[in-house]
Amino acid sequence: MFGRRQRETPMLRVFEFGVTAVLAIIATACSGSPKEDLSASLDPNSAPLAVVYDSYFPIGAAVMAGEYGVSFTSNYDETTLSQFNSFVGENCMKPGVIQPTKGNFVWSHADSLVAYAVDHGKTVRGHVLVWHSQTPNWMFASSGTQIERKEHARGEMLAHIDAVVGRYADSLYCWDVVNEAISDSSGGSVYRTESPWFSAYGDASYITDAFDYARAADPDALLYYNDYSVCDSGKRSRIVQMINDLDLKNHGLHGIGIQAHWNLQWPSVAEIQATIDTFHSMGLDVQITELDIDCYNNSSQTTEIPYASVESALTERYREIFECLRDNKDKISQVTLWGVADDHTWLDHMVGGVYDQDITRKNYPLLFDADRKPKKAFFAVRNF
Ligand code: G3I
Repeated sequence: MFGRRQRETPMLRVFEFGVTAVLAIIATACSGSPKEDLSASLDPNSAPLAVVYDSYFPIGAAVMAGEYGVSFTSNYDETTLSQFNSFVGENCMKPGVIQPTKGNFVWSHADSLVAYAVDHGKTVRGHVLVWHSQTPNWMFASSGTQIERKEHARGEMLAHIDAVVGRYADSLYCWDVVNEAISDSSGGSVYRTESPWFSAYGDASYITDAFDYARAADPDALLYYNDYSVCDSGKRSRIVQMINDLDLKNHGLHGIGIQAHWNLQWPSVAEIQATIDTFHSMGLDVQITELDIDCYNNSSQTTEIPYASVESALTERYREIFECLRDNKDKISQVTLWGVADDHTWLDHMVGGVYDQDITRKNYPLLFDADRKPKKAFFAVRNF
């Protein structure tokens, strides 16, 4: 429907990027090492992130498409988007957004994102098929025996995945199939038992169904399990246990999505490295899928801090994180930031671990500021 999925950048885009890269190299040859050249350049577009990281991994960004009634195309300028070579809908492909009522699909926003990406030789990640949040209640029976409730949910899951994955089978290269199915606490169930999917099924077999249905709908798509706090050793162990207990690799699991909603202090580079190694050693691909840095370190303070007070710490944090990620380029297939710029971030409404749209506390988690200008953190990531 949208032309072939963009695993390889069409020749035109390769040519354009190549020209940019060659110009950067020529400029460098005349003026010293790439670092000196890039650090000398305050023009963020002299060498976009996607070009500089071409030999490491694609750099993606979560983008708005339809939120607050704002269309994707009207919200972003080409210059800003040129920094990235992959996109993911922040909300537009979530179950409750794309199929708010049974059989009523809202394709327009996801379609506009996919059409732009295909037209510009960029890839698209699908987010998300099965999740406990932003999933409409009609997908679950409100009464009935456990078997009846399971069969109802199973039927709705199959129909949803068939429709959504099937529509974009030629244009999306990967999917977050299941999101956040693991318990945050140790000592109890491995699984998030309060998930409506777990409740409807009565067990975790909804997870294997989701991967089976996604694989059937698009056998070429790369399928990921996506979660947060994956660098927490206890949660990491529970995710490993799920993968092994459910034999998820034999249900199509290709890799792990480490959301990476990190902060200025946690996790350490050592914990990031241990996490990457854990899943790589299982033969799984690793992606950083939702990277942003909470400048309040998950605190519940309500008073806003000025960006100037955290700029240095944020800059150093991004530097050390991307140094670690570059060192693991053979284990990581993509790094996606959870947003383009600080003008729109979910973290403005995340205070002390509680997400509330009605509360705003300005945060500064991304590489571009609220005016979409590059921050020092951008140059720390680009000018390595
Ligand atoms: O678009 C509507 C707007 O029209 C309406 O006026 C407004 C007020 O209700 O709501 C707007 O939609 C909100 C949307 O964000 C746009 O900002 C939704 O209500 C709100 O639920 C939604 O929050 C999203 C959140 O997931 C939901 O849990 C965030 O944008 C999104 O960044 C966040 O992303 C999640 C990942 O999907 C999974 N990993 C964690 C990550 C952060 O929570």
